[in-house]
Amino acid sequence: MRTVEWHDNQVRMIDQRKLPWEFAQNDYDDYHDVAMAITDMVVRGAPAIGAAAAFGLALAAFQSPAADQPALLRDLESAAATLKQARPTAVNLAWAVDRLMQVAGKQKPTGVDDIRAALLSAAQSLADEDIAINKRMGAHGAALVQDGDTILHHCNTGALATVDWGTALGVIRSAHEQGKKIHVLLDETRPRLQGARLSAWELKQAGIPFDIIADNAAGHFMRTGQVNIVLVGSDRTAANGDVANKIGTYKLAVVARENGIPFYPVVPTSTIDLSLASGDEIPIEERDPAEVLAPFGKPIAPADYPARNPAFDVTPHRYVTGIVTENGIAYPPFDLSLRQAVEDTLMSK
Ligand code: MRU
Repeated sequence: MRTVEWHDNQVRMIDQRKLPWEFAQNDYDDYHDVAMAITDMVVRGAPAIGAAAAFGLALAAFQSPAADQPALLRDLESAAATLKQARPTAVNLAWAVDRLMQVAGKQKPTGVDDIRAALLSAAQSLADEDIAINKRMGAHGAALVQDGDTILHHCNTGALATVDWGTALGVIRSAHEQGKKIHVLLDETRPRLQGARLSAWELKQAGIPFDIIADNAAGHFMRTGQVNIVLVGSDRTAANGDVANKIGTYKLAVVARENGIPFYPVVPTSTIDLSLASGDEIPIEERDPAEVLAPFGKPIAPADYPARNPAFDVTPHRYVTGIVTENGIAYPPFDLSLRQAVEDTLMSK
């Protein structure tokens, strides 16, 4: 089952806000609602929101009453802007929308229905490619995991964060499929608890042994020799290898380095933003403080207390051992190896 798909001329998504308590899928017939679903985190995870935005733009093409190409392109420009502003940090969102806008712009002025069909087909290809890319990262990354390893993992980077399979959690799935006996320590990942709710849900179904740990416990497990490798995802990785990922990742990387534990982000080339020289330029989403004060509506402090809620942080590249991509594992100097990984993807098209 896919996290995001086209179903009956609508965009269908698993509602991740309800897991693990309830499994529900929502159908959207208006791209504005797709954008809202991304903002509200019905769908979340960099590649999954990229796919959702791609299907959202295809939906916008079918919604548009335009009768000629210029009018349709104007409607698509407006939809693209709405979808792109849904969340700022994950570059996959803009990457996916731009990819579809290029398809729309390149169509010969044969007819608006052809453009609509081309956009839907481009969104489908993007979603199919996502799964294939994740499987390739899984194969490369699984080579880093030894039989008997305990892996520390942050947030949710699995099937739910992608179209299917996952990035870092995809590597864990691949290592498990290869018959390696592994154990996973899942950071609960406050404030939205993607680790405790979503990664645990996925690992339970896959039969992969895990323990949920409080985020604050990760340092203890690393210092006492109970972690062999740290695997995380990324929402945007800059040209120099600085990695933006779920808030709390930076702390893990620093403690991993202190304890001689390898730290590997698993990053499709669609998440690498070569236009940014360093992580300092990556926009960091700051979400509603209510998520901190009352996680999932359960108050832990009075609602009028001040709070801050940055959703991501940047791990400087000096703490990164290597970056797993679909084209192999990039090692320092990252400015060269990441550029090569992105070029390999462009050459394969
Ligand atoms: O705020 P979220 O849940 O969308 O954040 C997700 C992450 O930080 C993931 O680690 C990231 O998207 C990469 S995994 C596919």
